[in-house]
Amino acid sequence: MNLSPAIRVALRGDLLDFTGTPAWGDVDPACVRWRADHGLLIEAGRIVGARPGDQPPGDDWRKHAYPGRLILPGFIDTHVHSPQLDVIASYGTELLDWLDTHTFPAESRYGDEGVAREGAVRFLDALLSHGTTSAVVFPTVHKVSVDRLFEAAQARGMRLVAGKVLMDRHAPPALCDDVEQAERDCTELIERWHGQGRLAYAVTVRFAPTSTPAQLAMAGRLCTRHPGVYMQTHLAENKAEVQWVRSLFPEARSYLDVYARNQLLNERSVFAHGIWLDDADRAALADAGAQIAHSPSSNLFLGSGLFDWRADLDAGVAVSLATDVGGGTSLSMLRTMAEAYKVQAMRGERLTAWVALHAATRGAAHALHLGDEIGSLEAGAAADVCVWDVAVGPVAVQRDRLAHSLHARLFAWMTLADDRNLVDAWVAGTRHT
Ligand code: GUN
Ligand code: ZN
Repeated sequence: MNLSPAIRVALRGDLLDFTGTPAWGDVDPACVRWRADHGLLIEAGRIVGARPGDQPPGDDWRKHAYPGRLILPGFIDTHVHSPQLDVIASYGTELLDWLDTHTFPAESRYGDEGVAREGAVRFLDALLSHGTTSAVVFPTVHKVSVDRLFEAAQARGMRLVAGKVLMDRHAPPALCDDVEQAERDCTELIERWHGQGRLAYAVTVRFAPTSTPAQLAMAGRLCTRHPGVYMQTHLAENKAEVQWVRSLFPEARSYLDVYARNQLLNERSVFAHGIWLDDADRAALADAGAQIAHSPSSNLFLGSGLFDWRADLDAGVAVSLATDVGGGTSLSMLRTMAEAYKVQAMRGERLTAWVALHAATRGAAHALHLGDEIGSLEAGAAADVCVWDVAVGPVAVQRDRLAHSLHARLFAWMTLADDRNLVDAWVAGTRHT
């Protein structure tokens, strides 16, 4: 990875990241690394260290003072649809109707070069303005939507994982490809983009119902032929969807098994949702080292269900956090964490700020095998860093004043904050706000 620019920058504020995985329910785990009033040192786009604020580096460092503000690794959104900003907050439907009524018509427009270019720029700038510096993204079935998205990410120096959406049935003709052409397009896109700077390709099966068995087999071949690529899809989000998959693939033991039988379950697989799973599915996910991208605002908005985080944790499945816009209602990972807390509350569980923040930073990075590059403030990592106000407005300011522990402060921040709290986003050492 060649990060630029070759400039030395020191960001002074309250540094927060994780050196390990916080246990469920523990509000004071040892792996929370809180370094109040420290300077984060960045050289040529990488973090090179940190030092107490009263020991600043020399004159050859460009210094940025953020007194009393939080400095965290940029958030990682592990499942989001770039064209669906156009349908965020659409009224009235559950998943399958929502796809037909709102989503497919919106995605159909992205075969147009101009729509794809402008959409990619709008989407990535919106991610950054919400404090998200890395993402795993669905563009559309159109090759041009992938090219424009990767181009825009490259221009911003962002770590991005994406790929052409595969769908060859049960969708409007404007969104359907065919196996041979899709295989040629994917191969070309992998050769063009995978491993270019901070970009990685994901074989992107929309979900089992919109691919024929022949296309699922082709997607599996792509994963086997190109071992470094990711695989992303949807899994067991909605009860009617699960029922549909059962009728389309009667030979499979479960929804997950449809993917497993097609070589689409591996340590580089990112499965969105995974609400309606059983213990055998969870064991298979854990064995494979695959991850679940939990998308709470989407699950609530589309009425999909209440994700059982504890069951995945107990089974050893990695869980990251995702907005799933436009099923999700905000690009903010903080809003997403707040919704995740409420989903767990409905299950009688408590999600600590630490588990939530870890899932959106170091946890996601490790699940993506990118722990050396993103998700922490460790020396050697890319300087993808966001600076936050803990409190904006009189209600949050008063609440922050009365918080008696670090967890209480961070939990109130996570629950009340949004993009208005973002002060600056740095990507590979370059400021983007
Ligand atoms: N399942 C298949 N496609 C989609 C999508 O675009 N959004 C969500 N939330 N679920 C899906
Ligand atoms: Zn989705």
